[in-house]
Amino acid sequence: MNSSLASPHNTPIAISRNISLRALNTFGIEAQADAYLAVHSKDDLAALRADPALSRLPKLLLGGGSNILLTGDFHGLVLHSCSRGIRIVAQDADTIQVCAAAGESWQALVDWTLQHQIGGLENLSLIPGSVGAAPIQNIGAYGAEVANTITAVSVFDFETGTCKTLDRAACAFGYRDSVFKRSLRDRVMILDVTFALPRHWHANLRYAELADAVSAITAPTMQQISDAVCAIRRRKLPDPKQIGNAGSFFKNPVVTKVHRDRLLLRDPALVNHDQPDGSVKLAAAWLIDQCGWKGRSLGAAGVHERQALVLVNRGNARGSEIVQLAQSIAADVRQRFEVALEVEPVII
Ligand code: EPU
Repeated sequence: MNSSLASPHNTPIAISRNISLRALNTFGIEAQADAYLAVHSKDDLAALRADPALSRLPKLLLGGGSNILLTGDFHGLVLHSCSRGIRIVAQDADTIQVCAAAGESWQALVDWTLQHQIGGLENLSLIPGSVGAAPIQNIGAYGAEVANTITAVSVFDFETGTCKTLDRAACAFGYRDSVFKRSLRDRVMILDVTFALPRHWHANLRYAELADAVSAITAPTMQQISDAVCAIRRRKLPDPKQIGNAGSFFKNPVVTKVHRDRLLLRDPALVNHDQPDGSVKLAAAWLIDQCGWKGRSLGAAGVHERQALVLVNRGNARGSEIVQLAQSIAADVRQRFEVALEVEPVII
């Protein structure tokens, strides 16, 4: 059933009722939403806010649905980012600024930059999800973090009904973290993201596995690096179109050096990386793997065979089954390594 209301520009916006969210989350979990709106522009959001009944509803902001786990029906309004557009907005001697609409798929943006011979995003090739979701969890892979390329994020603020632009500092980026996961969670919807990409590109091969993958090429191009990243990802990570998942289910935990050294005495093979701030990041996948969880299942929820950090839906899993599996894994890791695993996707 659809109903419509007028936007400030008198274009009716269509609210759908009782829709299935299965195709809108990459875990492929079946759940219903009471109401749904495809958001094409800030005008849709302004119209919503002008409607007292609709603006009171709990909101679920959705991009590509690749970083959420639904544990039940959603009694509220799903706002699905569907805006499109990628363009160069400024250039100088050092940078090319590219602005992309939140609803564009992340890979569409990476492809666009490569087609225009603009480097800087190639290490982040093939990450599922939308442009608007990228700053929220500060997507990162193969030695790159999106935070390092973002200069501005424009948002619609549901509290004030206005649009504003946050610069990089205001986004408070951290490892898989930002202000959008914290104080601005559910308060703003991201409209577009501007990236400052280098005019004089250099390959970023600081991730050893990527450097190895292109070691036979003398001066790898941005396209060759992108191809290598895609090949590694396809080899290790399940394609959400084939098997439901939300990428890494846990963050890599950060511990003290004292804690790491204690663990190393018992497990000399412990995968760990010193951080610039003196802390140490551990590979959650390795910890989970050591606890024997790789490839195992609880009901229809499973741990991927090739990457222990990724939980998968083996078919008709409920969100609660995935949560139970995650809790069992985290309990084992805590017991064996005294490390608390933090969940990465947003659990609804
Ligand atoms: N490992 C295991 N068992 C496994 C998988 C990996 O022991 O089942 C070990 C590997 O041998 C390696 C270490 O764990 O020594 C790290 O593995 P990997 O290089 O695959 O990276 P990761 O730390 O598991 C992180 C990101 C990924 C990103 C890769 C590459 C997080 C939470 N995950 O994974 O991001 O693609 O690095 O940069 O930081 C995502 O966020 O969804 C995601 C896939």
